[in-house]
Amino acid sequence: MTKTKTAQRLPLVVLISGEGTNLQAIIEACVAGTIPAEVLAVVSSRAEARGLRRAAAAGIPVHAVLAAGNTSREDYAMALSAVIERYHPGLVLLAGFLRILSDGFVRQYRGRLLNIHPALLPKYRGLHTHRRVLAAGEREHGCSVHFVTEELDGGPVIAQAKVPVRPDDTEATLRARVQEQEHGLYPLVIGWFAAGRLRLQDGRVLRDGKLVNSMDFQP
Ligand code: GAR
Repeated sequence: MTKTKTAQRLPLVVLISGEGTNLQAIIEACVAGTIPAEVLAVVSSRAEARGLRRAAAAGIPVHAVLAAGNTSREDYAMALSAVIERYHPGLVLLAGFLRILSDGFVRQYRGRLLNIHPALLPKYRGLHTHRRVLAAGEREHGCSVHFVTEELDGGPVIAQAKVPVRPDDTEATLRARVQEQEHGLYPLVIGWFAAGRLRLQDGRVLRDGKLVNSMDFQP
C-alpha cells in the first residue's frame, strides 16, 4: 500500500450528527493508507456528537454548526458550506448526518457528495430502517452508499452490502450487523472515488466508465 501513501490524497470533509463509527472507519482507512484520501475536517450538527471526540483524538479539526429552532434549511446550508469551503474538499461525506440539506447545497456539491444509508435503497428511505425492516418481516437488509441528490435518500446508488435478518434479531442486533458492513462499504466506495474511478453523469453512476445500477459488496 506504499503506492497510495505517496499518491496525491483526496481531501475529505465529513459531516456527522452522532456516534461517528463510520467516520472512525473512514479515518482509519485514510491513516492506514488503504484509501488515497485524508479527512481534513469534521463538521457536526450537534455539539455533543461523540464523533467530534473521535475526530479530535485523531488530530482532525472539528466544527459544530448548530441550528436554532427558526434557522431555515437554506440559512443552515449556507453556514455549513462556509465552514466546508475553508477546506476545499474534493469529496463531502454524510456519515450519520441527520439534517436535511437544502437543494442549493446539494447542487453546489453535486457529484462530490455521498451518503451512507442503513437500508437496501430504494427500499426503506428515511428513519428507523431497522425497526421497519423487522416489522415488515424482511429476510434481507443492508446498507447503501449513494450520490446525494435533491430527493431525500433518492440519489443513485453506487454500492450495497447485504445482511441476513435472523428470526431472533432485535433492532440493536440488526443495526450492529448492518453497521459492521457500513464500515467496510463506505471506505471502499470512497477509495474508488479517490482513485478517479467513480463519476456521476446525467444522474447515473459510472464506475471505470461503465454504468452501475447497484452493486453488491462482499467483504
Ligand atoms: C449509520 O448507520 C448510517 O447509515 C445512518 O446513521 C448511522 C450513523 O452511525 N444514517 C442515516 O440513517 C442517514 N439517513 P455513525 O454515527 O456511528 O456512523
